Order: sequence, then C-alpha cells, then structure tokens
Amino acid sequence: MITGAGQGIGRAIALKFAKEGTSVIVNNVTEDKAKSVSKEIEEMGGSATPIQADVAHQDEVTNMVSKVMDEFGKIDILVNNAGIQTSSPFLKLPVAEWDRIIDVNLKGTFLCSQLVANNMIKNNYGKIVNIASIHYIIPRLNRIHYDVSKAGIAIMTKEMALELAKYKINVNCIAPGFIATEMNKEILGSPEKLNENISRIPWGRMGEPEDIANAALFLVSDEAEYITGAILNVDGGLGLK
Ligand SMILES: NC(=O)c1ccc[n+]([C@@H]2O[C@H](COP(=O)([O-])OP(=O)(O)OC[C@H]3O[C@@H](n4cnc5c(N)ncnc54)[C@H](O)[C@@H]3O)[C@@H](O)[C@H]2O)c1
Repeated sequence: MITGAGQGIGRAIALKFAKEGTSVIVNNVTEDKAKSVSKEIEEMGGSATPIQADVAHQDEVTNMVSKVMDEFGKIDILVNNAGIQTSSPFLKLPVAEWDRIIDVNLKGTFLCSQLVANNMIKNNYGKIVNIASIHYIIPRLNRIHYDVSKAGIAIMTKEMALELAKYKINVNCIAPGFIATEMNKEILGSPEKLNENISRIPWGRMGEPEDIANAALFLVSDEAEYITGAILNVDGGLGLK
C-alpha cells in the first residue's frame, strides 16, 4: 500500500514495486490520479487497486485499510509517501496552514502506520517505509511547518521501529533531497532557480523519483532484513553541506 501514489515519488515506487510482481494499492487523495497510475500498472501487466482516501482523516484511512484487508487479507508493505508542502514565514504562518501540513504529513503517517501495523503483527511480518525529507534536519526559510512534520516522521520511524521489532516489522525512513516532481514545479519552471538549487547538490544533478523508488525497493527487500529504524538520505549529498 503506497499513499499519495498518484504522481511523483509515490507513482515511481508503485511502478517499481509492481514490476517486481507486487499487488499494489495505489492510494491518492484525488481519485482520478489513483486510477490513472493503477491503469498504467495494469497496462504493463501488473496488478493495482486504486483507493481514494485523504490520509489526514482517520475515518477515510480506516475505510481504506478495511477494504484492503477484505480484498487481500493482509498488507505486507506500507509506504507512507503522501505529503504536501507550502511556503510561509514563521511570523505569518496561519494556524490552519500549520494544521493541514502536520495533519497530512505527520498525522497521516501515524494513522496509516498504526492501522496497518496492527494487521501486520498478526503475521509477524511487515515493511514500513516513511518518506521524510533531508529537511528533517536542515532548516530553511518559510518551511517551518513542513520541516517540523518531516522531523516528526524521522523520530516516529525510530519509535515505531523500537516497538515493532519484536513482531519482525521493519520500519525505515527515506530522506529525499531535491527531486524532480510537481512539488518543485515553481523551481523547475525557472532556469535561474533550478541552477541555483542544483549548484547546492554535490552530485551535480536533481534527484529523479526513480532514485527514491530504488531505495524503497531495497528497504522492503530481504537484503534489508536486519535494517530497522534507519534514516537513509537519498539526496546526492545535499545534506552534507
Ligand atoms: N519532491 C521533492 O523534492 C521531495 C523532497 C523531499 C521529500 N519529498 C516527499 O516525498 C513525498 C512525495 O512527494 P512528491 O515530490 O512526489 O510530491 P507530489 O506533489 O508530486 O505528489 C504527492 C502526491 O500525494 C498526494 N496527496 C497529497 N495529499 C494527500 C493526502 N492527504 N492523502 C493522500 N494523498 C495525498 C497528491 O495528490 C500527489 O499525488 C512527499 O511526502 C514529499 O514531502 C519530496
């Protein structure tokens, strides 16, 4: 089950997992995007089920998990990818904007993880991957709400990993750097801003959604069985500066 898989990083993870033969639940807050990625997967011979739900709402997450359990009987992998970002200075940040970012990014990760983990423990098996951001640790101007939500996801990953290890559930986190998705459309649309952002990346290029999908695939693989509570920076070295 991959949240926010209707485009960008979530879509890339959904496609990658489907290519490996996984039945993918494509969640998105907008139904059309969930359906179009599911269609893409079906057309390449994979298996996908679109489910519309807003991860910030407990009742919608509960319905989604119930539907999946009724249809498939278990969830082996959860990727908490759904996330939103806005820009506002701390001194002027409206409380409603703070609430929405925290609700989607942080509470959404908690709600999905708690419900899914309660099913995973019955099988003594599970893989949870949380998508944070390299800004969980590097502050920026105008992103206090987003960066705090991602710092929350990082420590939540470790808390969950600690509690769930005895059920053989791995919980890990990916901290992406600057990735070419719609979330960065403003920067992508301005050659000047784009060059400025790339100049700060030691590896010399933006990340692609596929870079994050590769890391997610590793973290849910048997090869990563002994890794839990880890935060993996996938950022071309952006976090080193
Ligand atoms: N793009 C980057 O540079 C970057 C960097 C670091 C971290 N991230 C994180 O990666 C994740 C994916 O980002 P992206 O760049 O692919 O963004 P994106 O905006 O391209 O895609 C996000 C997807 O999540 C969906 N979504 C939004 N709110 C939702 C909700 N409440 N419930 C369910 N689905 C919802 C959107 O409809 C969209 O399909 C996010 O958590 C983001 O914070 C992105």
